[in-house]
Amino acid sequence: MKAKGQRIVSVTAYDYPSASIADACDVDLILVGDSLGNVVLGYENTIPVTLEEMEHHTRAVRRGVKEALLVADLPFGSYNSSVQQAVDSSVRLMKAGAEAVKLEGPYTEAIRAVTKAGIPVMGHVGMTPQSVNKFGGFKVQGKGESAQAVREAACQIEDAGAFSIVLELVPADLAMTITKSLSIPTIGIGAGPHCDGEVQVFHDVMGLSEQVFKHAKDYVNARSLMVEGLRKYTDEVRNNKFPTEENSF
Ligand code: KIV
Repeated sequence: MKAKGQRIVSVTAYDYPSASIADACDVDLILVGDSLGNVVLGYENTIPVTLEEMEHHTRAVRRGVKEALLVADLPFGSYNSSVQQAVDSSVRLMKAGAEAVKLEGPYTEAIRAVTKAGIPVMGHVGMTPQSVNKFGGFKVQGKGESAQAVREAACQIEDAGAFSIVLELVPADLAMTITKSLSIPTIGIGAGPHCDGEVQVFHDVMGLSEQVFKHAKDYVNARSLMVEGLRKYTDEVRNNKFPTEENSF
């Protein structure tokens, strides 16, 4: 798709309904992101997410995906200790139904070993949420002199054998430079319009999130539709308008 100049569309999914909606909408790549930690499990960030939780959500998403490429995130602590750990964790996500895994940062030896085991790896640079404590918050990465480090990490990840790479919260001109210099596709989030594709969190696209982020856009306001629906239901049950004869057996 990169060679043909076709933009790659990606969205996260964490469960069967969101996966089947994304798949029915011809999304190219569905990511079981470890953002499920903050988006659907109520954690403060992605750090507490476990491999068991990722396996559980990957299995649910697998059942809803027929066409799209299914990538699952290796959570924090499941690949950072050793190359062996990275391979073992990746195998578990593949057995849960993933077709590729994603990990954050230039873990080049791990990327080589996981790829050698027959598992495609997606890289991730810029604002990598599992390193939020190192960065001191969710901040744009690669401004000024630090751009070089982000560029180098992206090149190392490509050289190690990754099939694509997420660029998160980096300046648009840096994302453009990286996109031009790599042969693998770049998938941006908060990385401007020049990446080979875009990934967004399902709940942000649907307007289900409580917060509105600068890097995101809500295409529908599902939250207010759901609130409206649930208020009507509450009202009808309280006022004995539902269920009626029509809903009875
Ligand atoms: O966990 C996630 O959802 C991600 C994407 C936002 C790239 O890593």
